[in-house]
Amino acid sequence: MVKPAVLLTKRIPRSAFTRLEAACAVDLNDHETDLTHDELVQRVRGKQGLIALLTNTVNKDVIAAASDLKVIANIAVGYNNIDVPAARARGIVVTNTPDVLTESSADLTWALILGITRRVVEGDRLVRAGQWKGWALDFMLGTELGGKQLGIVGMGRIGRAVATRAAVFGMRIAYTSRTPQEIPNAEPMPLDRLLSTSDVVSLHCPLTPETRHLINQPAFARMKRSAYLINTSRGPVVDEAALAWALKNRLIAGAALDVYEEEPKVHPDLLSLENIVLAPHLGSATTETRTAMADLAVRNAIAVLTGQAPLTPVA
Ligand code: GLV
Repeated sequence: MVKPAVLLTKRIPRSAFTRLEAACAVDLNDHETDLTHDELVQRVRGKQGLIALLTNTVNKDVIAAASDLKVIANIAVGYNNIDVPAARARGIVVTNTPDVLTESSADLTWALILGITRRVVEGDRLVRAGQWKGWALDFMLGTELGGKQLGIVGMGRIGRAVATRAAVFGMRIAYTSRTPQEIPNAEPMPLDRLLSTSDVVSLHCPLTPETRHLINQPAFARMKRSAYLINTSRGPVVDEAALAWALKNRLIAGAALDVYEEEPKVHPDLLSLENIVLAPHLGSATTETRTAMADLAVRNAIAVLTGQAPLTPVA
């Protein structure tokens, strides 16, 4: 039997690659750099499967070039890099990698919450610059979390995992959610009220036309001056220029970002500010999670290509 042809846009952990190679004829982009748009269009031709990363834009051109394509398996939970309606119109199944990255993404969110409220990264910079003068009672004071409100924007899997960890720090939870749901010890509220009452606002919504620049100048103006913004969702959910303006004018106390509007670029005004932590999109970046993500994407692709139901199709 002829193996189905699959384009794999980057190297993946060996265990997942071995599984893929056993079932498919793999065309691997073995380079450190991502395929350019033209290369992607060219190499997807004649393939039945595409295993893609969030850095690959799988738009109409890519989909149109692949007349035999049956599955696009994204190695990410977010799939805003894929034109899902265009894929659906062609009967192509799109899958993502939920669940396996929930805990690591929630952990990273807390690393950022603690990192910015306790000034860990700012302190590290100071020590490395040789400017630390020693312990002092009033030196580099941060903010405590106990008794404060954590506002979670988007109560999906990752939002809920972030909320679960909040109890340990004695925080109250407020949240917004597209779908009504009962979360114990957490108060649903409209975004405006969440923004004006929360001490830490953490974003966990997908990037859609409705959430693009959801956090803009008016949103910052609504937030408490003592509040912190955390974004581990998608960069364009926050208007970066407005964030720089809000931080410079002390409309909010600080921010921690893991994602950016035009990765790997960061708005230049943010780079010189002390009251922001800038992480390089590390949400799911543990060896265990990345291996599980690659494995799930491979299993999704193989399932579709062997006539079975995908494990995790996108909604
Ligand atoms: C990472 O950002 C993901 O969507 O998996």
